[in-house]
Amino acid sequence: MAIERREISDEQIQRQEGICREIQQTISASHRPPLAMVDTYGCQQNEADSEKIRGYLEEMGYQFTEDEYQADVIVINTCAVREHAEQRVYGNVGALVHTKKKKPDQIVAVCGCMVQQEHVSAKLKKSYPVVDMVFGPHELWRFPELLQTVMQTKKRVFATDPSQGVIAEGIPQQRDSRTKAWLSIMYGCNNFCTYCIVPYVRGRERSRKPEDIVAEARRLVEEGYKDITLLGQNVNSYGKDLEEEVDFSDLIRRINDIPGDFLIRFMTSHPKDATDKLFETMAECEKCAHHIHLPVQSGSNRVLKAMNRNYTREKYLGQVESARRFMPDLVITTDIIVGFPGETEEEFEETLDLVRKVRYDAMFTFIYSPREGTPAAKMPDPYTREEKQVHFDRLVETANEISAEIHHGYEGKDLRVLVDGQSGRAPYNLTSRTEGGRLVHLQGDPSLIGSFVNVHITSSNTWALFGEVRNETI
Ligand code: SAH
Ligand code: SF4
Ligand code: F3S
Repeated sequence: MAIERREISDEQIQRQEGICREIQQTISASHRPPLAMVDTYGCQQNEADSEKIRGYLEEMGYQFTEDEYQADVIVINTCAVREHAEQRVYGNVGALVHTKKKKPDQIVAVCGCMVQQEHVSAKLKKSYPVVDMVFGPHELWRFPELLQTVMQTKKRVFATDPSQGVIAEGIPQQRDSRTKAWLSIMYGCNNFCTYCIVPYVRGRERSRKPEDIVAEARRLVEEGYKDITLLGQNVNSYGKDLEEEVDFSDLIRRINDIPGDFLIRFMTSHPKDATDKLFETMAECEKCAHHIHLPVQSGSNRVLKAMNRNYTREKYLGQVESARRFMPDLVITTDIIVGFPGETEEEFEETLDLVRKVRYDAMFTFIYSPREGTPAAKMPDPYTREEKQVHFDRLVETANEISAEIHHGYEGKDLRVLVDGQSGRAPYNLTSRTEGGRLVHLQGDPSLIGSFVNVHITSSNTWALFGEVRNETI
């Protein structure tokens, strides 16, 4: 039986950190600093997990490389959401035969959502001897212990216990950016959309305690982070499993109360649970970005029902209207699946119609990919991949048209953006993001990275805006 929630104690994490120090002592005797490579697939949740793996590796004394021929330890953090992502992982893991031939002591670890599926871990065991270590998302907290076992025994380790709804606080984290931070507020998912593998590999929904989340957000703000994204598969059900009466809107308010100049974002918000209370909170909290990622998946009620999404197109359109009443400048983005089993031409047209009505600022579109063990994988599907591709292309074309029109509407306007990196698009040298997450290329001093600036938008295309810095901080 699945364990719903298992809190890892501080002592258990301290033990793991003790193992990091032991590993550090063992490897510091070698002639050069040891190198590690962490390769990440999938969503922000996986990015956040990889930052924890890197945090542990850093405590062990590893430095990081992107070159698999140099790495002493390679960790591949995988995603199972679509077949394409899985095929890439098999290809990349298979190719490590060559690096290991040159570097026989290299340790290869494969972790993340994909390996939590029994058939995947069995395949890695049988057909990929290059892999030394396999661990699922529920075992990440004891990565040091698992790595040490491989180092000491030279035997392969497979740790994919299916029954642990783990919550672990205090794992060191090496964040990718100095400006933007991922902050997981909950793990797992209870929704069982019929196409989706996530609930099977990530376990049931479990929320972190609000005080732990607020303390982490406070630390991030103190360290200078300007953009904090609260992560969960359905942030709207935050707190339902906690004893304390707290919901997602309460959590936003508590984080909004932290002093400092920063933006609060979140994802993902499931439309079945998005309420006016949430929209009102977003409108009232001055640090909350006016952006909502509200994945609709389909515009057809028949398909939504078959997907087990628990809302109708009418309810969804009503929510969008209501959210825009609270925040007229709201940026709305979405995910859409094309070619769900049995989706007809008319049903696809309903999705296109919904897209034209909502006019999304950005859309993430996917062709349905059957996932072993999910109910949709057993549904009859008379349509071919080619037919689905035609729909997919039409959808992308519509999305691009809308995006170009929305972008055009920004020209001549002044906006506040957060400068977040270097642009490779000459003559522009900096990238930035609007509150809604839109990409703006700029020319300016690299020292502006990490600050909010006011920009004047001069031109645009389908994918980005281009602007000039007006006054540097506002
Ligand atoms: N929890 C989020 C989604 C996580 S997965 C939510 O409910 O919105 C991210 C996106 O991948 C989903 O929104 C969906 O559009 C897509 N997706 C999930 N399973 C898929 C599948 N089997 N085939 C194609 N796309 C899929
Ligand atoms: Fe998957 Fe649905 Fe859960 Fe999102 S809400 S992770 S799509 S099961
Ligand atoms: Fe994320 Fe992929 Fe897992 S989308 S939760 S990494 S299956």
